[in-house]
Amino acid sequence: METVSKKIRVSINKKEQRIDLLQAYGKDIMDSVNFKQSANHAQHGTMSVYHHSINVANYSLAWNHFFRLGAQDKDLIRGALLHDYFLYDWHTTSHAKLHGFFHPGIALQNACAEYELTEREKDIIKKHMWPLTVIPPLCREAWIVTLADKYCSFLETIRIHNRKYTQDVKNSWQIY
Ligand SMILES: [Fe+2]
Ligand SMILES: [Fe+2]
Repeated sequence: METVSKKIRVSINKKEQRIDLLQAYGKDIMDSVNFKQSANHAQHGTMSVYHHSINVANYSLAWNHFFRLGAQDKDLIRGALLHDYFLYDWHTTSHAKLHGFFHPGIALQNACAEYELTEREKDIIKKHMWPLTVIPPLCREAWIVTLADKYCSFLETIRIHNRKYTQDVKNSWQIY
């Protein structure tokens, strides 16, 4: 896995190579039943939680290498993929207005139940809604995902990112 990472690091700015790295470190998550079912849940606009999470991982990876931020790719990818792992349609819940405050904790609980997370991955999930979560991120990986999440959410809200959330997940590797 490390060999794949080194090879790809040479020119990570190409989308195809970021996809290779996403597969190397996050394929087990993206192929899982629970993660795939988030393709049926809208995040912002018409974007599904599934595609939103993959896009956040993609942008985090791109920024990490473009700006030479020195974050760990594996933690960055896995934390980004699981940052919204709350596994329900938040628009239909009774606490929809407070979703922003609650869902990082729920996502962390769900992710911990299925995966062995590093401290960095936990920090990414727990703090990605900062400043709502009050305590700021403690590692660079969590800062990158926090910013990439806000950037992607903005583009989804104004419909620049507008993948249909009912789209078949077979096309999931088509990232923005
Ligand atoms: Fe979130
Ligand atoms: Fe998010």
